Amino acid sequence: AGTGKFFVGGNWKCNGTKDSIRKLVADLNSAKLEVDVDVVVAPPFLYLDQVKSSLTDRIELSSQNSWVGKGGAFTGEISVEQLKDIGATWVILGHSERRHVIGEDDQFIGKKAAYALSEGLGVIACIGEKLEEREGGKTFDVCFQQLKAFADAVPSWDKIVVAYEPVWAIGTGKVASPEQAQEVHVAVRDWLKQNVSAEVASKTRIIYGGSVNGGNSAELAKKEDIDGFLVGGASLKGPEFATIVNSVT
Ligand code: G3P
Repeated sequence: AGTGKFFVGGNWKCNGTKDSIRKLVADLNSAKLEVDVDVVVAPPFLYLDQVKSSLTDRIELSSQNSWVGKGGAFTGEISVEQLKDIGATWVILGHSERRHVIGEDDQFIGKKAAYALSEGLGVIACIGEKLEEREGGKTFDVCFQQLKAFADAVPSWDKIVVAYEPVWAIGTGKVASPEQAQEVHVAVRDWLKQNVSAEVASKTRIIYGGSVNGGNSAELAKKEDIDGFLVGGASLKGPEFATIVNSVT
């Protein structure tokens, strides 16, 4: 941990029911969370309203996606304006599941980020390489290209948190080692310094995602350029998510 306030997001992905979410919210409401950490949860769209009306204000609300522009005739989409209306303050964009399962490309993701920022949402901007890319020595190339697409599209980095999520570590139980994560985080920071500005590089939080749990978060959090986490599976368990939030050093 090093830059700014530690940031921990819980990405619930496409999980939960009214009942299970009621229980998760109750666990989060009763959890003791370090004051010095920004805590955000991203429920499925359908449950944002339920979560907003029952969750403590201590925790901010994020969506897992947003439409690329103003709402209207876009069947099946959710607009940034609607997300704001329901009380969301963040949006996750560029998640690997949207890139690789659903097929969103760099330019589309960049445009979404620019639009969400222009409407005042914070953006959790995800990047990360696949296993074959890592094995082919392309980790930095892939991450920098994804980062560049965000950088080319956005006018300001004030409300962006970068989430480094190596695809091979997502949902696999194979967490990156603290050294592997730190190596990419410091390279991302250096890229920001070279290509955006020294100020943005030093202020932007770079968080890690991929099989983070209550047992490995403290070691990861010790690394200088790991400024928080984006947590999937373990964020569906309130007490474990609280442990991760509190692993800030
Ligand atoms: O966005 C968080 C994520 O992709 C990591 O998922 O289940 O490996 O923690 P998980």
